[in-house]
Amino acid sequence: MRGSDFLLHVLWLVLFQAAAGWCQANITSMLAPQADRVMALEEWEERWHEGRIGFHQPQVHKMLENNIDKVLAGRTGVRFFFPLCGKAVDMKWLADMGHSVVGVEISEKAIKEFFEENNLTYSAEPVPAIPGAKVYKSSEKNISLYQCDLYNFSSSIDGQFGAIWDRGSLVAINPRDREKYTSLIISLMAKDCRYLLDTLLYNPELYKGPPFFVPDEQVHSLFGNSCDIELLHSVDALTDRQRNWGLDYLTENVYLITLKSS
Ligand SMILES: C[S@@+](CC[C@H](N)C(=O)[O-])C[C@H]1O[C@@H](n2cnc3c(N)ncnc32)[C@H](O)[C@@H]1O
Ligand SMILES: *[C@@H]1O[C@H](CO)[C@@H](O)[C@H](O)[C@H]1NC(C)=O
Ligand SMILES: *[C@@H]1O[C@H](CO)[C@@H](O)[C@H](O)[C@H]1NC(C)=O
Ligand SMILES: *[C@@H]1O[C@H](CO)[C@@H](O)[C@H](O)[C@H]1NC(C)=O
Ligand SMILES: *[C@@H]1O[C@H](CO)[C@@H](O)[C@H](O)[C@H]1NC(C)=O
Repeated sequence: MRGSDFLLHVLWLVLFQAAAGWCQANITSMLAPQADRVMALEEWEERWHEGRIGFHQPQVHKMLENNIDKVLAGRTGVRFFFPLCGKAVDMKWLADMGHSVVGVEISEKAIKEFFEENNLTYSAEPVPAIPGAKVYKSSEKNISLYQCDLYNFSSSIDGQFGAIWDRGSLVAINPRDREKYTSLIISLMAKDCRYLLDTLLYNPELYKGPPFFVPDEQVHSLFGNSCDIELLHSVDALTDRQRNWGLDYLTENVYLITLKSS
């Protein structure tokens, strides 16, 4: 090898390694700005009481609507799970199409508003397996909303699900609980479950959350061992609401996650 070729070769190696290091930005350091952020359950309940619920949308979520065929995959009467359901109108939309809905939400106010605003009558009963919890059931539709901490819910309470709609949920739980959340969600997935997950990418140095930043790399590190992960959409979602939080970009990622067939 000529001297100049050798130099070029070394230069190439150095540049390549620097680029590889740069691209493989370590997940831990990406997450560092929000790693210790904690929202207590009481803070969420306070938000509901003060009406600080900017996350709530009066219309069916576009990402659910646009991907419903991929979630249903031809099935009828699917059991949907809504972790951290709030009063999402998506639940009524699915129930009207003949599906069943089970949600979990800590705020009793949110649950009552859901039924009242959708003109549904309901009854409430205690959940023997979860001290202090109640389940609110619609009289007309297959909708059951559990008022409790999500981490007190399990498949032994209400079985497994054929679909999950995760919007404002993985991005809302405390970042340190993501592994615990993932194992709960996986345990709630029936074999044929189709899990639609909505996450947000932004610069976590600029806003403390919630919603929290969930990088694509972490979706893969959390679910990749047990699940196949397909990124369906990655779209610019920046509006004045997030500009007011100080953000300069916001990307919404939507994934379809299914259990690996063993
Ligand atoms: C960002 S909101 C999203 C609500 C809904 N998914 C939507 O898109 O409109 C998160 C909700 O989760 C509830 N929540 C937060 N942590 C919870 C927990 N550990 N268990 C049950 N509910 C919780 C909050 O009260 C709040 O209504
Ligand atoms: C990732 O970054 C964190 C914090 O910046 C550091 O503590 C950790 O050692 C790094 N891990 C790897 C594998 O580089
Ligand atoms: C509930 O009923 C009220 C009064 O009849 C009506 O104005 C409202 O549109 C209804 N809401 C829904 C979601 O059907
Ligand atoms: C609720 O679901 C059950 C079982 O999936 C079904 O038999 C029943 O017809 C449903 N009820 C309504 C009101 O949709
Ligand atoms: C509910 O969850 C909390 C926090 O994860 C835990 O400390 C408690 O033991 C759970 N209670 C039940 C009945 O599962």
